[in-house]
Amino acid sequence: MKKHLLFLGAPGAGKGTQAELLSQTYSYLHLSTGELLRKEIEMNTILGMQVKDIMNKGELVSDELVLKIVKQNLDNNKKGWILDGYPRNLSQANSLNKVLTEINQPLEVVFYLDIPEEVLIKRLLLRGRKDDTEETIRTRVDIYKKTTEPLIQYFKDLSLLEYIDADRDLKTISSDIELKMA
Ligand code: AP5
Repeated sequence: MKKHLLFLGAPGAGKGTQAELLSQTYSYLHLSTGELLRKEIEMNTILGMQVKDIMNKGELVSDELVLKIVKQNLDNNKKGWILDGYPRNLSQANSLNKVLTEINQPLEVVFYLDIPEEVLIKRLLLRGRKDDTEETIRTRVDIYKKTTEPLIQYFKDLSLLEYIDADRDLKTISSDIELKMA
């Protein structure tokens, strides 16, 4: 059973939902950079105040800051982990590679959740998180296409990529993922 996993996909593809389900089933750490940053905002920390406006606009927080969060959390991990929302660009992918080499926990599989744009827009507008306004969704999708999408080929070249059709019901997607984890 694979225990070092990563979810890649556009905003609203279902990364957080699937990562959470899996983390409960296998007691793996679910490391969502978005979720951790939102907690900092909720708690009004200095970090939270630094990132609030950036996140509300749908832009990316600095690579250094996110790397710090990832490092702190992976260090505390024992059983296995699921990364969700990280890396988001080539520079973050290279940093992740270095961290994982240092802690000797190589990435084993990348699940790419593929979803049509019109479906993700509907899902996000329905969810209504603070950054789920039409304008912010547009920014997030544009940034995803420009900076994150190239990682699909990056992980494909490393023979780590597993394609998942994410435009299906939750359970069907989960079963598909679990089959590919074995
Ligand atoms: P982040 O929290 O990572 O947001 P995101 O990537 O835009 O992803 P979402 O949470 O919107 O979507 P998801 O794919 O997780 O889908 P979900 O399961 O929630 O990042 C937010 C911000 O933080 C960024 O914009 C940036 O500012 C900052 N940030 C985070 N990481 C960063 C990094 N590495 N570097 C720099 N900045 C960073 O599902 C969406 C909805 O669809 C839910 O309502 C869900 O219930 C529903 N749904 C899920 N699956 C299904 C299904 N199969 N059928 C029907 N509905 C479904």
